[in-house]
Amino acid sequence: MVSLAAAPPLWLRDNCPCAQCRDPRNGQKLFQITELPAALAVGTVHDTRTPDGAPAREVVWAPDGHRSLYAESWLDAHLPGAAAGPGDGRTEDDKELWAAERFADGIPEAGWASYMSDPAVRADLLDAVLRLGFALVRDVPVRDRQVLDVARTFGHVRVTNYGELFEVRVEADPNNLAFTGARITPHTDNPYRDPVPTLQLLHCLTNAAQGGDSGLVDGFHAAALLRAEDPDAYETLTRVPVPFAFADEHTELRAHRPLIGTDPTGRIREIRFNNRSIGALRLPAGLLAGFYSAYRRFGELLLRPELQLDFRLAPGDCLIFDNTRLLHARTAFAESGDRHLQGAYADIDGLASTLAVLRREAM
Ligand code: OGA
Ligand code: ZN
Ligand code: ZN
Repeated sequence: MVSLAAAPPLWLRDNCPCAQCRDPRNGQKLFQITELPAALAVGTVHDTRTPDGAPAREVVWAPDGHRSLYAESWLDAHLPGAAAGPGDGRTEDDKELWAAERFADGIPEAGWASYMSDPAVRADLLDAVLRLGFALVRDVPVRDRQVLDVARTFGHVRVTNYGELFEVRVEADPNNLAFTGARITPHTDNPYRDPVPTLQLLHCLTNAAQGGDSGLVDGFHAAALLRAEDPDAYETLTRVPVPFAFADEHTELRAHRPLIGTDPTGRIREIRFNNRSIGALRLPAGLLAGFYSAYRRFGELLLRPELQLDFRLAPGDCLIFDNTRLLHARTAFAESGDRHLQGAYADIDGLASTLAVLRREAM
């Protein structure tokens, strides 16, 4: 049996499950941390059972006499130990980092019909998006705006200045190089937004042009390689805010964020990388030189052929990927050829929620 001695009283009391402390209808806490007694201490502890018979311990608190009943299983799982608890699923610790070879036997994919009809297939596909950063749905109806229906299978569409969807095809007066036949090197989308759209969908309607092949790179893996190979460059890219900006006739967006975003414990959590929308950094010359050498180094690393997964979208394919982790690219294509994708953005926390509920229902 674990000892309560190591548990800070405020922490233990904050987790009291009683109906006075938490609304039984929704589990939400009913008190503020400031309402707990300043001199809170564990008074007495004794072994008992929960109402459904599981081993438990009851704490009677000093000085207010409040009683808390903790299931032994909860204490086992939560009492402070050597290791920190699990993360929120968004950092490198909760991902399977990859290079192209990982997919020698195929990429994570499902057919639209089974994706729609079979919750287990849907769960596997959404799990791949969280774990590997992407998945492909095949044989999605080749229909205008269908990409929005794909997004709605796991969440809400995130509307941006490009509209609820964006057309990736050659335009006469493009406000973005994506809407030309130019090669686009590995990048994340909309780095000039904060919050950035966390998920991207690209639905292929036509891909009959010469060229226009797709590429994906695991930005978390690339950042981890940079950390191993050039710790100073890595450190620089996690610390220097980069001014990303986008402007056209109707829009003026900017966000100052590092190329490699880390969580408060230093784990890799977010990549922003887009040469098209990096503005002029303004820093003392020494820092600028350091940033540019690190930026170049990371850019070179991202172009290593072994890191980039190459494939070609066919009509009906809908690629879903984590825009905070994966970089996407395409080769140049002949502007005389017919190539048309429809893209949309959505939220990865919503996708994770959909998957968690699917798993709950499968139990
Ligand atoms: C984009 C983009 C990829 C493609 O529109 O942001 O990267 O395959 N497009 O055209
Ligand atoms: Zn209580
Ligand atoms: Zn893009």
